[in-house]
Amino acid sequence: MSSISGVATSASLASSAVSMSQERAKFFEAIQNQKYVSVPFLVDPNLIQDAIHAFFEFLNTPDHIKHHIDFKITQTHRRGDVGFKRRESAADIYNDSKDFFHFHPALFDQYADFLKDNPVVDAFVKKAKPIWDLAYAKTLEILKLFDDRYPETSAKVFDKEPVHLLLRFLKYDWQRSEKYLAKPHFDAGSFTLAIAESCAGLRIGSGPDDLKLIQHQDGHALFMLSSNFKKVLNTDEFQAGWHDVIQLDETKIGQPFARWAIVAFIDAHGVEALPRTETHKWYTQSAHAE
Ligand SMILES: [Fe+2]
Repeated sequence: MSSISGVATSASLASSAVSMSQERAKFFEAIQNQKYVSVPFLVDPNLIQDAIHAFFEFLNTPDHIKHHIDFKITQTHRRGDVGFKRRESAADIYNDSKDFFHFHPALFDQYADFLKDNPVVDAFVKKAKPIWDLAYAKTLEILKLFDDRYPETSAKVFDKEPVHLLLRFLKYDWQRSEKYLAKPHFDAGSFTLAIAESCAGLRIGSGPDDLKLIQHQDGHALFMLSSNFKKVLNTDEFQAGWHDVIQLDETKIGQPFARWAIVAFIDAHGVEALPRTETHKWYTQSAHAE
């Protein structure tokens, strides 16, 4: 298994076992203290750039093409929807102004004919697939770290097809400086792997009072627990990562978009999503208090 926390592994088996347990301890410490872990995620930067370029080309297609892929890999949670969505912040206090596409490889079979006829969509989903594969492998590696302490953690997510891992491609509209691109919230699934983003702005903490701006290291992804993690890990030892995204870059104001990001959402089978009053609870309270 490759290094999770970036600690060098030793040549000898004995010291490798020691370093593994040290890595695991560091991993759990980071989750407990900062509510996220920066994990090595070795992806060719050109692959990310090409996929984002293909995503933006996809966003330029007519609405009936953009909305054509539309199905659920599960009925029970909000991260089960595959396809394109546009959200407007004015429509709902929980919403941000953004475009996103949820990718899952199940779409290749379901939409084979459509993809053949629509090369822009086909090019995009083909670029998304290798990133989804890497997210799958990394999430499996991470969840195996939990298996010793919390048996069957990785099995709950990976032992049944289709695996509930959706890759979200996101484009945020610009906002005024320091304003939310993403309002504070817990993610709706059980686990989140933030893979790439165009610029800083993501803040993570345990709640509204300790949000810290995250520096996304090159070649790394950010793993955090999401609102539903207790449906997979039956423990009070950890907390989900409360997070938001603010606009820091003044030069993006007035531009066609402020930010893009690629994020994987992971859940187990048979898990029901919590309502938005729970996943956005502290924001709901502050928004109503304003
Ligand atoms: Fe989020």
